[in-house]
Amino acid sequence: MEFEKKILCIGAGYVGGPTMAVIALMCPQYKVTVVDINPTRIAEWNSDHLPIFEPGLDEIVKKTRDRNLFFSTDIAKGIRENDIIFVSVNTPTKEFGIGAGQAADLQYWEKTARQILEFSESAKIVVEKSTLPVKTAEAMERILSSTNNGIKFDVVSNPEFLAEGTAIADLVDPDRVLIGSRETANGLQARDELVEIYANWVPGERIITTNVWSGELSKLVANAFLAQRVSSINAISALCEKTDADISEVAMAVGMDSRIGDKFLNASVGFGGSCFKKDILNLVYLCQHYGLHEVADYWESVVKINEYQQERFILNMLGTMFNTLSGKRIALFGFAFKANTGDTRESPAIFIAKRLLEEKAELVITDPKALKNAMSDLQDARGNVNYTADPYEAAAGCHAIAIVTEWDLYRNLDFEKIYRAMAKPAFIFDGRNILEHKRLFEMGFNVFPVGKPSLKHF
Ligand code: NAD
Ligand code: UGA
Repeated sequence: MEFEKKILCIGAGYVGGPTMAVIALMCPQYKVTVVDINPTRIAEWNSDHLPIFEPGLDEIVKKTRDRNLFFSTDIAKGIRENDIIFVSVNTPTKEFGIGAGQAADLQYWEKTARQILEFSESAKIVVEKSTLPVKTAEAMERILSSTNNGIKFDVVSNPEFLAEGTAIADLVDPDRVLIGSRETANGLQARDELVEIYANWVPGERIITTNVWSGELSKLVANAFLAQRVSSINAISALCEKTDADISEVAMAVGMDSRIGDKFLNASVGFGGSCFKKDILNLVYLCQHYGLHEVADYWESVVKINEYQQERFILNMLGTMFNTLSGKRIALFGFAFKANTGDTRESPAIFIAKRLLEEKAELVITDPKALKNAMSDLQDARGNVNYTADPYEAAAGCHAIAIVTEWDLYRNLDFEKIYRAMAKPAFIFDGRNILEHKRLFEMGFNVFPVGKPSLKHF
């Protein structure tokens, strides 16, 4: 079959895999190939056990794989044979040298640019799918034009806004698709090529085009705003705990103002995930680079409040359980950074587990999808840690349960049964405010939600 367009994605991760699967689903007339340097990842994409858990993804991959969706490790061939190249490699926070701890580490990104230059034999549109500091497209263009091979490269910014756990729904029905391009004839032509792809399923008014720098910056800013909301509500949760106000009631009252809106106002143990912290720190670094120190401080405080919230959760546990956790058995319900994913990158659970181990608590960790990642995250942690997929088994004999991830599964457990099997007094620290606190209290639990009055029998 002759395909209308041939699309390559470099990077088969949480973004590359689902994004390309959805393009392949929506555009059977295009051939979509995803490549990665990690052969294990590619083998998993080609197997019945995909490397990531994402609701709805398995079905789409089953439908499209080997029809018009292909996974491969042959990066050179991919570059040679495709005209449109999405780059979706990881862009973590730099851990060395200038900008360590804040700036984006662009080594994977730059390596990809050089591979594209080395293997291209015809004109390419290079699409920045990874989240990048503003002005990265310029650096990419410089690398791509560093030889006189006569090949035309156009770089466009097309940041991804999907959230894990709802990635497929977000991709199928996005709030917006953003395409930033140069305003030159070639830049606009590249932009239109990309618009054409998304127009297969996204309504025209939701495909927005900007200049390339706005495209890059908007992605960092969107994540910063979302994280800022979480830090704002978490900051107020601390005040609620001091004043007997209830954070859910406050969030409802505030969120009903249509100018504010009711989303992203759930107080929690703090935000996690691979991107919020790294993207804000990247923004902070950019502001500092341009001498905007007050602006940098403002955004940095979003991360600081997040760290404060996680530490506050630990201090609450310690203070409540009579100032010693040594030898006490604590069950962590959930290890993923949010529900409906197995991803644990930057999960508050990692911090919480390590801090509890420092206090010499014994841990039992349960999670329906993230145990493998949890084991790897804690492989160097010292102390007594057990893992089980069964929450009842996890809670048996424990002094306390800490709800760390808001899996629906935990809302509907038989807490009478759990209470009977726990050491007394039994504590629940609901770091996601998903349980029925009054009912638990009546069963005998001492209940400590986030940002709400605690319910205790002593
Ligand atoms: P990831 O770590 O899951 O995947 C990146 C993949 O790129 C890895 O499989 C890695 O092996 C591969 N890779 C690295 N260098 C390569 C190279 N030179 N050639 C081929 N493959 C290479 O990362 P992710 O979560 O998919 O994130 C990718 C980008 O998308 C990041 O910039 C991130 O900020 C952004 N983003 C992520 C999300 C999310 O929900 N995870 C959402 C929106 C945007
Ligand atoms: C986030 C953004 O929502 C996506 O738009 C963006 O594409 C993505 O980052 C990215 O660039 O990687 P994600 O991190 O997958 O998506 O998940 P979110 O739903 O945003 O949750 C992030 C964290 O905030 C989670 O730990 C979640 O539990 C926490 N959160 C969220 C709260 O604590 N309270 C809330 O009200 C909302």
